[in-house]
Amino acid sequence: MKRVQVFAHRGYSAVAPENTMAAFQRAAEAGADGLELDVHLTKDREVVVIHDYTLKRTTDGKGWVKDFTWKELRRLDAGSWFGEEFQGEPIPHLKEVLELAADKNLLLNIELKSNKYPEPGLEERVLEWTEQFGRTDKVMISSFNHHSLRRVKEMHPEMDVAILFMANLYEPWTYARHAGADSIHPYWPTVSEEMVNACHNMGIPLRPFTVNREKEMRRLSNLGVDAIITDQVELLRDIQQK
Ligand code: G3P
Ligand code: MG
Repeated sequence: MKRVQVFAHRGYSAVAPENTMAAFQRAAEAGADGLELDVHLTKDREVVVIHDYTLKRTTDGKGWVKDFTWKELRRLDAGSWFGEEFQGEPIPHLKEVLELAADKNLLLNIELKSNKYPEPGLEERVLEWTEQFGRTDKVMISSFNHHSLRRVKEMHPEMDVAILFMANLYEPWTYARHAGADSIHPYWPTVSEEMVNACHNMGIPLRPFTVNREKEMRRLSNLGVDAIITDQVELLRDIQQK
């Protein structure tokens, strides 16, 4: 089977609480090429790694991420909801994931969660941290908010930005160019041979999400996508080695 890059969705989230260092560490150990993570801004403009806008689902806190300072959020338990052995696992700061990625030489796919509600300044803060680590060539920024990606591109024209979308768009490769994006991250059922070929003819990498079943991993790999974003890091690794 054709070798595609493996991106661990929210870390290795099948075996550890999503978007925690435990999940990112396990992804590295399992041989992922890259990590996907979701980021929000805190009240004091720090960049934290958490999927939802609110705390309830994945921590022992409640309320909105944006209403708390980094210090307050750091005290929360983001592991117990997943399993007792992860009790006390904290919400990471973006810089911790950048550190791990640098240490393990992993790619990063930083998803700006600025779609439902605006988070003014999120783009700037993410770029500041990424530049501080000097790893901009190993990082891509993705978002369902394509306005956010435009802002990233304006501030940092060299940054790889990727449009995320759920809909079965008409010619997303044309739209990607129009929006100034470098890559596309489509919802996996929408990926067709036509899409892969058209993107590749235009030099646009494709990284579908979130692909957890072997049959679909095989279909997409054989179509020639560049990477697959998955919760099931070892499954994808294993079938590629066969
Ligand atoms: O990067 C793809 C995927 O993470 C987008 O959806 O909701 O899991 O962040 P979500
Ligand atoms: Mg995401």
